[in-house]
Amino acid sequence: MGGKCGFVLNPSIEVEKILNEHLVGQDRAKEIIVNELKLWHPYDNKQVHQPMVLAFTGLTGTGKTMTATLIADALFNQREKLENSDKTQPAGLLMYSGADFEDTATSTIKEFQENFKTRLGSQLQKCSGVAVVVFDEIQKVIPQVVNVLVRPMSEEAILEYKQDNVQHKIDCSKVIFILISDIGTDAMTKLLLQYDSRDEIPLITLSRAVKSAMDEQWHRLQLGKAIHTVVPFLPLEEEQEGVTEYFSRSSLMTYSVMSETFNEVERKKVISKYGARTISNDVMKKVKAHLSKMFTEATPCTTKFFLFLDMYTQ
Ligand SMILES: Nc1ncnc2c1ncn2[C@@H]1O[C@H](COP(=O)(O)OP(=O)(O)OP(=O)(O)O)[C@@H](O)[C@H]1O
Ligand SMILES: [Mg+2]
Repeated sequence: MGGKCGFVLNPSIEVEKILNEHLVGQDRAKEIIVNELKLWHPYDNKQVHQPMVLAFTGLTGTGKTMTATLIADALFNQREKLENSDKTQPAGLLMYSGADFEDTATSTIKEFQENFKTRLGSQLQKCSGVAVVVFDEIQKVIPQVVNVLVRPMSEEAILEYKQDNVQHKIDCSKVIFILISDIGTDAMTKLLLQYDSRDEIPLITLSRAVKSAMDEQWHRLQLGKAIHTVVPFLPLEEEQEGVTEYFSRSSLMTYSVMSETFNEVERKKVISKYGARTISNDVMKKVKAHLSKMFTEATPCTTKFFLFLDMYTQ
């Protein structure tokens, strides 16, 4: 199944287990992900297959990237070494970073598109079409580059790409696409303030709010329509059950009061400004993003420096 990186036998059970262990305060997100996996049977030949397309959205430090990595950890038994690094990652995981596709001074749009497609194509070749493809901070990407995702994520699920001057065509129906962004977080925060408890917010209302923010951001693209399921990572609240207890470093977390007036009544909640990050972690993350932009070609020295920064910016 899936060559050397096939999915585990019980995807929803394995993912639920790992998220229960590590993800705190994001029960809605967890429930949606596990339910989607229960309904998705990529190896069942009696079903018409479609890729799974999830949009993770939420404020900084709420667990989006961590959850995407945990899903891949749970879904693949094998790990492989990363190029130019001592680290390993799940064999079927392909991770893109939006910051690598935002600056037309480094590459043309066409080059970005080809680079994106070739990386995806070779990963799928290697893993017989099975993959978890994570696009982190997708809000930063130039829209025309994002556009190349539409066909692989559609019902047709086909990727056409060029490698060594040879044209290839590959099926993407066994791919889980996870698009991570902060698009729609203002609308989500407003909804959080509107309801007494986060569990009362209807999922459909949350999903609609995020999707319309996505349609606005990519108004000339079909991308919003290609997204099946929105996975909301709501802001972490000071009062939220289990949150402060879990994050023992919570005294270093920065909280701020959010308020909004509904029907002339002001409603307030205390939320963590940087999620589970401390303020210093958030600053370090921004510094790292700026530096990685400056050094497009990493030398051994800069690689060591990034490893050092990595320790502080998980
Ligand atoms: N809900 C959570 N439960 C447990 N740990 C969390 C949670 N959210 C964040 N963390 C901790 O904070 C670190 C940073 O989280 P993560 O990188 O997933 O945030 P993010 O939502 O991707 O933020 P950004 O939008 O800035 O990229 C994680 O490695 C983890 O240690
Ligand atoms: Mg992230």
